[in-house]
Amino acid sequence: MTEHDTLSQTAPKRVFIKTYGCQMNVYDSDRMADALAPHGYVPTQDAAEADLVLLNTCHIREKASEKVFSELGRLKELQGERRAVGADMMIGVAGCVAQAEGEEIARRAPVVDLVFGPQAYHRLPDMLARAQGQRHMHPSLKKAVIDTDFPEEDKFAHLPAAKKEVTVKRGLTAFLTVQEGCDKFCSFCVVPYTRGAEVSRPVHQVLDEARRLVDAGVREITLLGQNVNAYHGLDAQGRDVGLGQLAYLLAEISGLERLRYTTSHPRDMDDALIAAHRDLPLLMPYLHLPVQSGSDRILKAMNRKHTAAEYLALIEKIKAARPDMALSGDFIVGFPGETDQDFEDTLTIIRETGYASAYSFKYSTRPGTPGASLGDQVPEEVKTERLYRLQDLVNRQTTDFHASCVGKTLPVLIERVGRMPGQVGGRSPYLQAVHLEGSTELIGAIHQVEIIGTSTNSLVGRLRQAVAA
Ligand code: 5AD
Ligand code: SF4
Repeated sequence: MTEHDTLSQTAPKRVFIKTYGCQMNVYDSDRMADALAPHGYVPTQDAAEADLVLLNTCHIREKASEKVFSELGRLKELQGERRAVGADMMIGVAGCVAQAEGEEIARRAPVVDLVFGPQAYHRLPDMLARAQGQRHMHPSLKKAVIDTDFPEEDKFAHLPAAKKEVTVKRGLTAFLTVQEGCDKFCSFCVVPYTRGAEVSRPVHQVLDEARRLVDAGVREITLLGQNVNAYHGLDAQGRDVGLGQLAYLLAEISGLERLRYTTSHPRDMDDALIAAHRDLPLLMPYLHLPVQSGSDRILKAMNRKHTAAEYLALIEKIKAARPDMALSGDFIVGFPGETDQDFEDTLTIIRETGYASAYSFKYSTRPGTPGASLGDQVPEEVKTERLYRLQDLVNRQTTDFHASCVGKTLPVLIERVGRMPGQVGGRSPYLQAVHLEGSTELIGAIHQVEIIGTSTNSLVGRLRQAVAA
């Protein structure tokens, strides 16, 4: 046996996972890697050396969806290169495009071996085995393995936990999905169709996963859900626990220092959750609370089920509970029927709220959503112009927010070495990147940092004092 033979027998299989879209996809990709680990797959950052490539896709806007097909073209070439040297590459499409367009993907891109939706990835090892079986078929008979079910079983109960050393490697901050799906049916949005109805994970599952993360060194957890503040999980006694109550339970985990959650709907910002913001210092004073539009007419057409005034009143209530609360939001410009006045109303709500940051998008027609059948589409150039104006306003607000931090002392979770030698970097409570001079020994804990300046998209700080343990 040659040395090469020995190596190839023991060499692990490599999986390259490319993630598109939201943080939940980032979380899902990690869990897919965890599901594959017991089957000998180790992650690689280089698609060219991968035995398996998974694209974890996003369907939220047309552009996001289309990226998948161009990437598949590129992968077909890489697969050809690997086959030319006697290796191979399996290709899978996961996530929301897979859910929405399962059969269509297999038809349009025969290079794909497996297609599976966000609720089916606990079955990945089994799907892979079936797809491997297909490889030995004559090309005319070969069929992609497709699983876009919304299965009865709870995928989380069937997924292996990440090994401790894997979690340690992933760093000091972690995502934790507590809720999936959405029952709100905003008329522009595909999520209720791709991710399905709202489902909350039971309280014990969430607490166990959080404890495991903290035990592996995680100091900050971001709870994820498409509609996270609609979380209603059951506790061991079968009682309903909302997100506010869940935050109190998580706050009892010793070693967990910061808690965030995203994305929230204004209608689900209940009193218990607002009280948690008042009571729990670990709940960070930075809230992503999208309003989408400032026009009541458009909010109604979007099926958001609240008015602009109700949103502003809610913000006031939240700030009364937590005066240092900063906000981020999402906006859509050019929803069908949006007039100049509607758009001006959106600029007004942005001015009145004052955002630390915000994401904004041109309306993109999504097949199967109620918005897709509305007339009165806004011309592309009008959308572009509105987006530009909106982003200009938001950018000024972000710059002002960064500037307002100068002179303050903020707790910063130091996570890594900085860009320059002798520097370290971390995040403020408001998720701003902060750089400061300091030794690597600072990494892993929260330190008080005086903010002395701003640079593009980040803050510059100076160490004040270490927080007493
Ligand atoms: N077009 C444009 N933006 C959209 N979003 C959701 N659906 C669409 C769409 N069809 C935006 C919303 C949402 C964010 C995640 O993406 O602002 O909050
Ligand atoms: Fe989509 Fe609206 Fe549900 Fe958010 S609340 S996921 S925008 S349908």
